[in-house]
Amino acid sequence: MRSLTVDLDARSYPIHIGAGLLARTDVIQAHLKAPLVAVVSNETVAPLYLAGISSALRDQGVRITEIILPDGELHKDWQTLNRIYDGLLNNRCERATTVIALGGGVVGDLAGFAAATYQRGVPFIQLPTTLLAQVDSSVGGKTGINHPLGKNMIGAFHQPRLVLADTDTLKTLPDRELHAGLAEVIKYGLVRDASFFDWIESNMDKLLARETGALTYAIERSCINKAQIVAEDEREAGVRALLNLGHTFGHAIEAGLGFGDWLHGEAVAAGTVMAAELSRRLGWLSSADCVRTTALLQQAGLPTQGPALGADRYLDLMALDKKVTAGKMRLVLLKGIGEGVVCTEIGANDMRAAIEACCHG
Ligand code: NAD
Ligand code: GLY
Repeated sequence: MRSLTVDLDARSYPIHIGAGLLARTDVIQAHLKAPLVAVVSNETVAPLYLAGISSALRDQGVRITEIILPDGELHKDWQTLNRIYDGLLNNRCERATTVIALGGGVVGDLAGFAAATYQRGVPFIQLPTTLLAQVDSSVGGKTGINHPLGKNMIGAFHQPRLVLADTDTLKTLPDRELHAGLAEVIKYGLVRDASFFDWIESNMDKLLARETGALTYAIERSCINKAQIVAEDEREAGVRALLNLGHTFGHAIEAGLGFGDWLHGEAVAAGTVMAAELSRRLGWLSSADCVRTTALLQQAGLPTQGPALGADRYLDLMALDKKVTAGKMRLVLLKGIGEGVVCTEIGANDMRAAIEACCHG
């Protein structure tokens, strides 16, 4: 088992990464406030992994409520959130009940937001089961839901007490989902960790073949990067914004097509190519590094061209992004591999040209 800490003073918490960790209910129990748990999962993940966790915790004297949601980004909405509150209330869950998210980023974001708001906040634990959730969404306390007009527009910061990433769960993950997670792994290399980018280039075959050693290393190194950023800037006043590389373009793709058509990681990949192309046009990123970026995403089985929504539609949707401040769009661009920068003064014509260069049709 590999372990690291997200250092947030009294709210610090461990991330454990390793094979078979879902069986370590003793570790989960040690982080409960009381022997009361509500596990939130979905109809795909629950049949795979929930029974073992629930019965082991029950054997340890923990009272369990199970809340099973429909699967998919389309359900990251008010109606599904309300189903969690229904489950918590119908089962008389208390302030000392720990909400546990068992699933990918959608379950994690929904369950985390429910934990942040139920009775003004209850304890929360993340058991991420996708690569994307293990390298990104389970760490750092961002929780929330989508609005039809914009991605992740309603939410709260609520840190978990524990993140337990069982690498064995990745064995049942569809290829397309594994690839989507690699987009966020590559992101860390691009924005702040050039030697990790080199390592990913050299080890992509092992990652795609799901070699445990390579996946564990990629998850650990991603979590180290994320934990450092979150410890420095929990509420995204500065450096945390770098983690949104490709996301402003990507959120426009997700909202523009309707949530759930493209996977989040796929939209981030195409958005990252747009950000790299814009950086190249501004004279910041060399053509060679722009090509390397696109090639690595392509090697990871990810789309490197966006859907043909039309540049004006992209710009409209991007203007709804959470990073817009005083009417100014904030974009994460690249000054080199491993060197992300947050920019506010990018002209619409430059953005339009980069989008058009990186779209189908
Ligand atoms: P997801 O949660 O939809 O999971 C992907 C699919 O894989 C789903 O169908 C799910 O049921 C299935 N699945 C999950 N684990 C499985 C397993 N072990 N075996 C088989 N199938 C499994 O998608 P995701 O990529 O995990 O997360 C994307 C979401 O995360 C987006 O909503 C995005 O906005 C959010 N996100 C949040 C943060 C954050 O900081 N909170 C960061 C990045 C992304
Ligand atoms: N995924 C971006 C963040 O956590 O800040």
